[in-house]
Amino acid sequence: MTATAVQVHWSSRFAFLMAAIGSAVGLGNIWRFPFVAGENGGGAFILIYVATTALIALPILIAEIMMGRMGGQSPVNSIFNLVRTHNKSRFWVLLGIGATLGAFIVLSYYSVIGGWALNYTLTAIGNGFGGLTGADSEALFGQLISDPAALMMWHTLFMGINIVIVMGGLHKGIERAVVFLMPLLFLLLLFMVAYGIGTDGFGEAWTFLFNPDFSKVTAKTFLVAIGQGFFSVSVALGAMMMYGAYLDKNTSIPQSAIIIALADTAVALLAGLAIFPLVFTFDLAPTAGPGLVFVTVPIAFGEMESGYLLGVAFFVLLSVAAITSAISLLTPAVSWAEEKFGRSRRQTALTIGGLAWALGIASVLSFNDWGEFYPLEVFGLFEGKTIFDTFDFSITSFVQPAVGIMMALFVGWSLSRETVLEALNIRTDQEPALWVRIWLILLRYLVPVAIVGVFLLALWPDLLA
Ligand code: PHE
Repeated sequence: MTATAVQVHWSSRFAFLMAAIGSAVGLGNIWRFPFVAGENGGGAFILIYVATTALIALPILIAEIMMGRMGGQSPVNSIFNLVRTHNKSRFWVLLGIGATLGAFIVLSYYSVIGGWALNYTLTAIGNGFGGLTGADSEALFGQLISDPAALMMWHTLFMGINIVIVMGGLHKGIERAVVFLMPLLFLLLLFMVAYGIGTDGFGEAWTFLFNPDFSKVTAKTFLVAIGQGFFSVSVALGAMMMYGAYLDKNTSIPQSAIIIALADTAVALLAGLAIFPLVFTFDLAPTAGPGLVFVTVPIAFGEMESGYLLGVAFFVLLSVAAITSAISLLTPAVSWAEEKFGRSRRQTALTIGGLAWALGIASVLSFNDWGEFYPLEVFGLFEGKTIFDTFDFSITSFVQPAVGIMMALFVGWSLSRETVLEALNIRTDQEPALWVRIWLILLRYLVPVAIVGVFLLALWPDLLA
């Protein structure tokens, strides 16, 4: 049986790149990267992050987009098509199922944080950061997350926007949103960085971000960097496979993947350059953790002169980045359900989005009413983890590494070298270029070995302590 290809394709390479970069650039870059870098020593972490992203996440990204284009359907059915056409074990289908379920779960809590970004946008518009002290800002954030009704409303709004975009399908939904939103995002970010350059804290921020202090580096730094890279570049959750399925046969996948990874890394670094000058100018703590963006940044906006405009710009930026990522988290499951049940796109997007929304309620409550409910605490690893923490930790520590390793093994070892080269439009009658050989070596050896390292650390955190 031959694979039935999806009928739609990106209308241009630009549209594909904007959507894929939109998927990669998200809360992971602007909210997570700065505080993870802050907590893990700044410069040295960043160097390691750049290296592991280039050597581990990027090779998987190429493989993932390639598998999507070869399979031509939702991630689950793409793998089905691949194992059928190439006579491989159905075991590999697990990869598609794991990725799709993983993306669905991430979406459920991603939408809650996306809702915070929407809420802060409104607060910024209403000039809610004016004259905010540290204590005020903490109170503002605490007030939001302790109020289930408010969180529900913002979570609903965020998921609603996401559903409406995905309902529109590829051309009228996803493309229309990203070709407008992504350039806006870059502009806003450059505006923020330009402002940061003019502040007194810029020098200190630069040193913090780019002066590596290797005394703080442990093996764990590498593993945190790998996990952050996977999440940030959007690999191993099927999002990029899905976008690959809409890709025409002629677009160069390796070239596109390099552009996506470079853009994602650039935005993370620029986000650091936008946020840390504020942190240092206003004497805030670079190690503030997940509250960095939501607690410390508004203080800076409240104190500075043109803080009003910047505050609005910043939270619009964060919301836009979150939405263009959420779209790519919802699409794999919607596309699978569409293929499976044959209902309309609208109905399917509404149903799957509605289910993710319902699951998200557990994450909403994790910040308040269920704040002391630790569902998996019998396992030491999950001690003190709310449902929200449990989801986030399980996906980034287990699902993404497992799916990533399976993708590397499937493309690196299971599919024949010829099949793989052909899928990338590389001639097989002559010795492939150096980069192709390096890519295959990374995929076959470095990726599995490095990922097993992540697994070991996740299972036995004391191993490296
Ligand atoms: N890369 C997105 C971010 O940085 C999150 C994401 C992960 C989106 C995996 C899709 C798939 O926020």
